Amino acid sequence: MERGGSRFSFHDLRPDAGGFLEDVITGLSRPQKELSPKYFYDERGCELFEAICGLPEYYPTRTEIAMMRDRVGEMARHLGPGCLLIEYGSGSGRKTRILIDALQPLAYVPIDIAARQLAASCAELARTFPRLAIIAVCADYSRPFALAELDGLAARRRIIYFPGSTIGNFTVPEAGAFLANARAIVGAGGGLLIGVDLKKDPARLRAAYNDAQGVTAEFNLNLLARINRELGSDFDLAAFRHRAFYNEGLGRIEMHLESLKDQQVTVAGRPFRFRRGETIHTENSYKYSVAEFQALARGAGFEPVECWSDPERLFAVHYLTVPPSSKPIGRR
Ligand code: AVI
Repeated sequence: MERGGSRFSFHDLRPDAGGFLEDVITGLSRPQKELSPKYFYDERGCELFEAICGLPEYYPTRTEIAMMRDRVGEMARHLGPGCLLIEYGSGSGRKTRILIDALQPLAYVPIDIAARQLAASCAELARTFPRLAIIAVCADYSRPFALAELDGLAARRRIIYFPGSTIGNFTVPEAGAFLANARAIVGAGGGLLIGVDLKKDPARLRAAYNDAQGVTAEFNLNLLARINRELGSDFDLAAFRHRAFYNEGLGRIEMHLESLKDQQVTVAGRPFRFRRGETIHTENSYKYSVAEFQALARGAGFEPVECWSDPERLFAVHYLTVPPSSKPIGRR
């Protein structure tokens, strides 16, 4: 598809089709009820997340953007020109624009679960970089998928860009598996530029997920509103409250929705009982020291090359590569 002189194609692999209801039923049937954070991002959820990124308490976004602005020249020198730049969870694209401008990749492949936001951010990007080939893929990047269009570009060096510390929303084993999959996708000689939130004063972390304006609370509760809208359930949003705390032993912020009373909710005709005080676990946000993250990446077959941080040591951007001669993990 040609749009505004740019080469822009959009592939919708329909990541939401089917799985949502099943996942909700399975998650609410567990002894510790849980819902996957990937379902936060319907249209309203994307808007609320954008608002979170601008909150005074939520330091990761502005810290990472400032780091990208200050250090992108160095980053681009490490990554090298003419690569195939694959981005997971493209979001609003602010950091991407900074990187593309400095890096001049051959093609850009954003992969995101939120179709409308992906289309909107690509259209904007195509206006800014009219000669850039953009191959947008609406997919759930936490699951394997194939795209024939990328095969023609296989000879190019592949770099995955994964900003925003979204890797923190995976459990540690999931993050390890994700990195191993990323390593397989970029192949020998490829690289990964990834934003990772650092461990820090728990008070600072707690404030970032319990903002004074209540936007994070609304973001969390929107998950129940989405289930009501899309799956015909009867969650009473006023009967649940947002809870976020730092679990120091596990090095993660946990977000939950706490039932304010004994109640029963029906989802697609299935009843679910909640005791007063019982929670639905909706998100983990792991925080990693530089050494912890490098060890995890090494276990997946990456070699740390460089790590940038801000003066307050709030956030890190790691650049990791796969040695040119290395074989896939598991086949050694
Ligand atoms: C997308 N992700 C990295 C955010 C985080 O900080 O874990 C999601 C978020 N949840 C509450 N606030 C922001």
